[in-house]
Amino acid sequence: MSFSDPHETDRVTHGGLDYAELRELGLNPDAVLDFSVNVNPFGPSPRVRETLAWVDIARYPDREALALREALAEYHGLELNQIIVGNGAAELIWLAGLAFVHRGDPALILEPTFGEYARVVNLRRGVLHRWRARPAADFAWDPKAIDQALARLRPRVCFLCNPNNPTGQVVSQAHLAHWADAHPRTLFVVDEAYLPFVPDTPSAINLARPNILVLRSMTKNYALAGLRLGYALGPRPLIEALARFRPPWSVNAFAQAAGLAALADEAHRQRTLTVLRRECAMFRLQLKRLGLTPLPSATHFFLIEVGDGAAFRRRLLPKGILVRDAASFGLPAYVRLATRRPEENQRLLQALTTFEHASKTPRNNV
Ligand SMILES: Cc1ncc(COP(=O)(O)O)c(C=O)c1O
Repeated sequence: MSFSDPHETDRVTHGGLDYAELRELGLNPDAVLDFSVNVNPFGPSPRVRETLAWVDIARYPDREALALREALAEYHGLELNQIIVGNGAAELIWLAGLAFVHRGDPALILEPTFGEYARVVNLRRGVLHRWRARPAADFAWDPKAIDQALARLRPRVCFLCNPNNPTGQVVSQAHLAHWADAHPRTLFVVDEAYLPFVPDTPSAINLARPNILVLRSMTKNYALAGLRLGYALGPRPLIEALARFRPPWSVNAFAQAAGLAALADEAHRQRTLTVLRRECAMFRLQLKRLGLTPLPSATHFFLIEVGDGAAFRRRLLPKGILVRDAASFGLPAYVRLATRRPEENQRLLQALTTFEHASKTPRNNV
């Protein structure tokens, strides 16, 4: 008898530290500068750490995260029953797969993008269809082509990431509204993990469509990646469907308390994200001066074509600098960089001055 899954679902490569790899290289994880994750580099509000000291860890957390959901309901102007919290947006992607993708269901994923959508569709034995943005268009979405794909494939679910990881491309509200109305039998799962990094861009939840479910992460803009916290917003029936599949107590007491404290310090978030945007513009400029060409992006992370992304990453890591090799997005010639604090960006720029850049190839050859 075998316990292995004959349809083994691929594991997804993510950014972040690989502790086994660092051990092999003799590197201390605490000393590595991590440009491979897209977390707010200025860290959480100081109020978060203060709050954590008071959490009663002998008691079970609130299964329904009532206080946190109330705060989120107020923040988004929604009803309590339109919100569910999860152990990071990652858990909510899985819950969406469990609730809405069934064996044989066609599912459309707009690529290149975050790998967990495809993983969960495969896990559910859905039929995976991919629409892929073109490098020649700097990976911009093509709303007309996407509309045609939706019409042709009639997917049960369409996963889209807005702004997209790894390209930083944004879909307009108008296009989202049009797709949701024109394809009412498709559920649009809109992953807004990075939307707070883009100023003045409203959430798709404001469109109030019955077939739009929005996913949010609190690990990125509030810098709570180690605590794991995310939530989904949507019409009540969609939220109830997700709730049916969520394991009990999946959001621990620290995460709930941290989420509340982070929401209560909006000034910290605004201030740090404003500085980050400014620093991102400067970082991009300095990279260009070194002969690298950051692709257009609405967020603080962006792709750069370097010739061989894996080799580029390998050369930087012994210097204690980690970048995201984009091969797992099907982009082996690219790396993704997230803007960090000014002095940290300078360290990367300094390390790069010793490089011969493969990226000097003109962009229009891509
Ligand atoms: C697009 C996207 N969605 C969701 C996640 C997962 O976020 P969380 O840390 O909240 O689970 C990530 C993490 O990298 C991501 O890039």
